[in-house]
Amino acid sequence: MNTGIIGIGRYLPEKVVTNEDLEKIMDTSDEWIRTRTGIEERRIADDSVDTSDMAYEAAKQAIEKAGINPEDIDMILVATVTPDQPFPSVSAMLQEKLGAKKAAAMDLSAACAGFMYGMITAKQFIENNAYKHILIVGVEKLSKITNWEDRNTAVLFGDAAGAVVMGPVSEGKGILAFELGADGSGGKYLYQDGPHLFMNGREVFKFAVRQMGESSLNVIEKAGLKKEDVDFLIPHQANIRIMESARQRLELPVEKMSKTVHKYGNTSAASIPISIVEDLEAGRIKDNDVIVMVGFGGGLTWGAIAMRWGC
Ligand code: UT7
Repeated sequence: MNTGIIGIGRYLPEKVVTNEDLEKIMDTSDEWIRTRTGIEERRIADDSVDTSDMAYEAAKQAIEKAGINPEDIDMILVATVTPDQPFPSVSAMLQEKLGAKKAAAMDLSAACAGFMYGMITAKQFIENNAYKHILIVGVEKLSKITNWEDRNTAVLFGDAAGAVVMGPVSEGKGILAFELGADGSGGKYLYQDGPHLFMNGREVFKFAVRQMGESSLNVIEKAGLKKEDVDFLIPHQANIRIMESARQRLELPVEKMSKTVHKYGNTSAASIPISIVEDLEAGRIKDNDVIVMVGFGGGLTWGAIAMRWGC
């Protein structure tokens, strides 16, 4: 049996904060942000909208697109480092909001690699025949933990939610291979202490460039494929320079890589699923395409998936 994506959704707050807006509140420039990161603007959620609210909007769409009811969901996995509160989990709050009465619920903390961890966890339950439909949500309200006086980090992040429903798909489709990993010795490079997020950008950058390329090549090989077989790359949208290095390792043309970082900034666990929605809607992902998704983040953590699109 194979596991694939059968429904997908996303939520983006309406409020757009441009680089020019940030120039007015801190010592930065549109030019610096664009050239160092590729980011032009990001979305920031209102105070009245919390992580579980964003998760709900994305989840509702994904369930509808999958053509199932909330009662058909067996498990909810929410990847986030910005939950509404330490507990109850966002997934349990979501279970109630959705009316997914049958679903088990747990949150998963793997920072920006959280969505990859969620998809691979879901695969295990589905292929063991324990569960049929699993909802995975990648959601962050990073604006809650952003220090708006720290230009090193404040310009990078945005708020968003992305969701998928995973379930059994036909032979040859769905997840073909995966890799998950962690290196706790790098925890000191990206962490939350008290109310705020801290990052050693240069160290995370070096790690990301190495890991994105290596993990992508590893899953291609594990799937019994070659670089030339890859139709589309969906890298975690952290920084265009990091994404470009992964694309070049795979020798893919520019149009075969997902790019949403300019519009939404780094949305951590939400970046890969919101990119999937946009690429599907734009027709950049087609049935039977081989897709590589790859993420990295605080932990340090990483994960990659090779998938054949379709049900
Ligand atoms: O999802 C995972 C999370 N994190 C990441 O993916 C981040 C990975 N790292 C990066 O994307 C990059 O390291 C950054 C974009 C964070 C920084 O780019 P960089 O090319 O590594 O710049 P840098 O840290 O070497 O800083 C260069 C200069 C510094 O000034 P000095 O010390 O050379 O005078 C910074 O103070 O740029 C300065 N700087 C800024 N200037 C204007 C740092 N932030 C800003 C800013 N505006 N926002």
